[in-house]
Amino acid sequence: MKLIKDFIEDTYLPKMPFWLIAIAVVGVVATWVPLAFIAKARTTTSTKPPVHIFQDMDLQPRFDAQSINPIFADQRSMRPNPAGTVSRRAIIGDAHYELGFKVDDAGQPVLVQPDEEGIEATLDFYRGIPDRIDVDDVFVKRGQEQFNIYCSACHGYDGQGNGAVNKRALELVNINSTINQWTPASNIIAVNPQTGNLLYGEEEYADGKLYNTINNGIRNMKGYGQQISVKDRWSIVAYIRALQISQHASEKDLAEQSE
Ligand code: HEC
Repeated sequence: MKLIKDFIEDTYLPKMPFWLIAIAVVGVVATWVPLAFIAKARTTTSTKPPVHIFQDMDLQPRFDAQSINPIFADQRSMRPNPAGTVSRRAIIGDAHYELGFKVDDAGQPVLVQPDEEGIEATLDFYRGIPDRIDVDDVFVKRGQEQFNIYCSACHGYDGQGNGAVNKRALELVNINSTINQWTPASNIIAVNPQTGNLLYGEEEYADGKLYNTINNGIRNMKGYGQQISVKDRWSIVAYIRALQISQHASEKDLAEQSE
């Protein structure tokens, strides 16, 4: 007769051999070794260069700027411009269109001398959008698209200066009181409380000046000339005028529209 005890013994699995247990234990402990290296690397410093597994083209012979370069007869590493090179600024076909301010025959900016002493001379900006551009719906829509891409992050979609970047910067200023250097993007729709005119409207801020601000930036704002084509910069100017009108339309403007 088979006892329950025998039955249980029959069904026991054979014991794991010792060598298998040993391999498993050694294997697990071995996985700690890289961790130990990482921990050491993170807590100690070394004078040796770091291990550079993928060399790519990081390390290769080269001539540094201002070092002697025997390849060229004049031994200069920094090569002079080929004869006849002109800077991009030097080719000005239509100053109104390309620069937004007047230049003389030598391509130098024409300056307006201020009436009062002690105020710096300013550039002579063109008024209006260049004739070669047809300002129509399509053009202003293009300006909206470009404004939303390049300007709204700081100036906001409405131009009032409270874009996402400004909101986040104000949060950071609040969290970390050591950052108090934030200059918010200007409210380009703002009205001068004294005169009631738009601060950046056509009267006070010529189209050419607005164009130049987009092109070259101003004070804390960088220029966007590198990213935005000439025509698109003008489309932004046109759209900003539309934004200003849309938020400050006078009764007269409305009456003219409905005629
Ligand atoms: C990264 C943020 C940022 C972006 C993007 C930006 N601006 Fe500005 N903008 C500023 C800041 C900041 C000022 C205020 C600069 C100052 O007063 O130092 C400013 C000022 C201005 C002014 C007022 C200039 C003056 O004469 O006082 C105009 C106009 C303007 N921006 C237009 C634009 C247009 C158009 C674009 C898109 C092409 C644009 N900005 C994109 C940050 C930005």
